[in-house]
Amino acid sequence: MKTTISIFVSILLVLLVKNNKSLEIFKCNNTCIKTDTHPEYYVVDPKVRHLNSSFFNSGNILVVIARGGKLSNLNTGTFSKLNGLRRLYLDGNEIKYINYGSLNNLFMQHLDLGLNQIVDVETEALSKLINLQSLYLHGNKLTTFEFSWFTANNVKSPLKVIYLNNNNIQTLQRNTFYIFPNITHIYLQFNQIGYIGDNTFNSNDKLEVIDLSFNHLSNISPFIFQNTPAVGKFLIAFNSISYINRDLFRTTHIKSVSLHPNLWICSCYHDFIKAQVNTTYYHHYKYPYLKTNYHEGKDITMCYYELKCNEFKQKETDFFSEKYFNHFMDKIKNIYQEVLSESTQLCDSETVCQKYHVCRNGICWNLYQKFHYNVKNGIFFWKQ
Ligand SMILES: *[C@@H]1O[C@H](CO)[C@@H](O)[C@H](O)[C@H]1NC(C)=O
Ligand SMILES: *[C@@H]1O[C@H](CO)[C@@H](O)[C@H](O)[C@H]1NC(C)=O
Ligand SMILES: *[C@@H]1O[C@H](CO)[C@@H](O)[C@H](O)[C@H]1NC(C)=O
Ligand SMILES: *[C@@H]1O[C@H](CO)[C@@H](O)[C@H](O)[C@H]1NC(C)=O
Repeated sequence: MKTTISIFVSILLVLLVKNNKSLEIFKCNNTCIKTDTHPEYYVVDPKVRHLNSSFFNSGNILVVIARGGKLSNLNTGTFSKLNGLRRLYLDGNEIKYINYGSLNNLFMQHLDLGLNQIVDVETEALSKLINLQSLYLHGNKLTTFEFSWFTANNVKSPLKVIYLNNNNIQTLQRNTFYIFPNITHIYLQFNQIGYIGDNTFNSNDKLEVIDLSFNHLSNISPFIFQNTPAVGKFLIAFNSISYINRDLFRTTHIKSVSLHPNLWICSCYHDFIKAQVNTTYYHHYKYPYLKTNYHEGKDITMCYYELKCNEFKQKETDFFSEKYFNHFMDKIKNIYQEVLSESTQLCDSETVCQKYHVCRNGICWNLYQKFHYNVKNGIFFWKQ
């Protein structure tokens, strides 16, 4: 009986391993070598729907990879005993809620929850992740981002990089990023943000990159970067902005800014160029990680008729009621649609998408298949 069971178990294991053959793990030192045995990595079968702590019997697991599968909820304490865990990949599943207790792990540095169906995160659900440095929440259904997910008592988080792009976020609360003093990169493109308050990035003096392209901004206050001297890259293409006060750039060291298309009023825009900002903009979009290519000199003209900026200030209310405004809004929407359809495949079921892609939130997303670990510097990366 025992032998029958163990034969059965072995066959099952072989089958499980076979099913995961599409995922390849490489260890890199001077060259990269594919590893078949990888005690440091635990790869979860994509058919598993409910993960719990009994899946992991070794505290030495460094990386758990459960991507592109059917996980719908995370049980309390699933990862809490994995003292060696540094990286957790749960992207491309069907997770809807992040409950308190499901992601308790004191050591995790990298958490990928991208491309799920997350609509809500419970208060303090991420509060035990006291070493978390990078968090991917892109491609979900979030309508808000709250620092109460991380703390109830304003305890600071070491987070450096956060991906919130491709959600349905509409507003950012006051001091949203207050508890992240070390954050360097914030990705918010493809949301519906209409307003950025002066205090939004007030406590983020290490912030280097902020991507707000593809949102609904009509205005940028000149004071949003008053306490963020490190900002070097500011991306605001594909909004409805008509005017930027150049004071915005006086206190920062912004080296590149994506400006087009927007609803620029040209004379104000020229004024802005005279402020010696290197104006480049990006043009080409690819999923799931937005790639940015700069094409200098290739302009999409989006100028409203000639007005002096001070004139514009007086006419501000007229401007928004005029038919021109709607005309330009339509123009932006058309370009937006063009860019989207060039770079994305829309889907309503998995079968529409190419190999290694998953259909999430109506878009085919690419799941990279080759996992590389550089033993020398501890850097991990994915390849197609
Ligand atoms: C964990 O999952 C396994 C496999 O699905 C199941 O057999 C077991 O009962 C679960 N354990 C707990 C504590 O939920
Ligand atoms: C931020 O970085 C500094 C310098 O590396 C470090 O001393 C500090 O503890 C970090 N803050 C948090 C909240 O992790
Ligand atoms: C502007 O930025 C681009 C891309 O970063 C760079 O190639 C170019 O040399 C810069 N131009 C100036 C005048 O600094
Ligand atoms: C990398 O490879 C060299 C020899 O090729 C070896 O001496 C060294 O220990 C390796 N480093 C690690 C971290 O495995």
